[in-house]
Amino acid sequence: MIKNTLDTHKAQRFYDLVGKRYDWFEYFESRAKDQAIKMLDLTPGKKILNVGVGTGVQQAQIESDIKPDGIAIGLDISPVMLNLARSRSSSPLCRADTRHLPFADSCYDCLYAAYILDLIPLGEIPAILKQFSRVLRQGGRMVLLALTEGVDVPSRAVVGAWKIVYNLSPMLCGGCRPLTLTELVQETGFKIISRQVVVQLAIPSEIITAIK
Ligand SMILES: C[S@@+](CC[C@H](N)C(=O)[O-])C[C@H]1O[C@@H](n2cnc3c(N)ncnc32)[C@H](O)[C@@H]1O
Repeated sequence: MIKNTLDTHKAQRFYDLVGKRYDWFEYFESRAKDQAIKMLDLTPGKKILNVGVGTGVQQAQIESDIKPDGIAIGLDISPVMLNLARSRSSSPLCRADTRHLPFADSCYDCLYAAYILDLIPLGEIPAILKQFSRVLRQGGRMVLLALTEGVDVPSRAVVGAWKIVYNLSPMLCGGCRPLTLTELVQETGFKIISRQVVVQLAIPSEIITAIK
């Protein structure tokens, strides 16, 4: 049983400290992120919310996919991350907690959330998915990306070791632990159209694409 003790304030302090160093995670996450952005199926004019925008590497890519008249909003709890995202994109950015999205109902065509739900205590995820559903229009597309359980010998070994370290101190893993999102997403009323697991350097990432 994995315990989870990373609250919002700890997450903010941690990601303020990590800042630009989070780009090193591209070595483990870039392939899954590229695939997840493809799954968004973005076209010019779309309005998309990127929850947990981080350092802004993917925000720049998303922005270019919806040019010239789309809008990509980046949301994050960490002012340091928002400053980094500002330096890499011209998107409107918003400092907020993913638990309370400060947007009207049904105002986005797409929502992208990468490696943020795996920081959130399990019991809080259904309410956050409901927030995601609330801000998406009917038929809108959501792509979620998270660390997940291993699917082959190396990734199972890494995830096994990861859980041991996480149980000693969640902060040693950046508060991130493996998740399997399918059921939680279905229970929120989304229709899942694909589930993929991408392994990069033995780190497995789950990509869920779902429609409201
Ligand atoms: C693991 S990083 C992932 C960043 C980016 N999505 C990526 O894939 O590179 C998690 C991001 O979520 C932000 N975050 C963590 N908890 C949050 C919360 N409760 N609300 C909003 N943002 C949060 C962190 O500040 C950090 O920028």
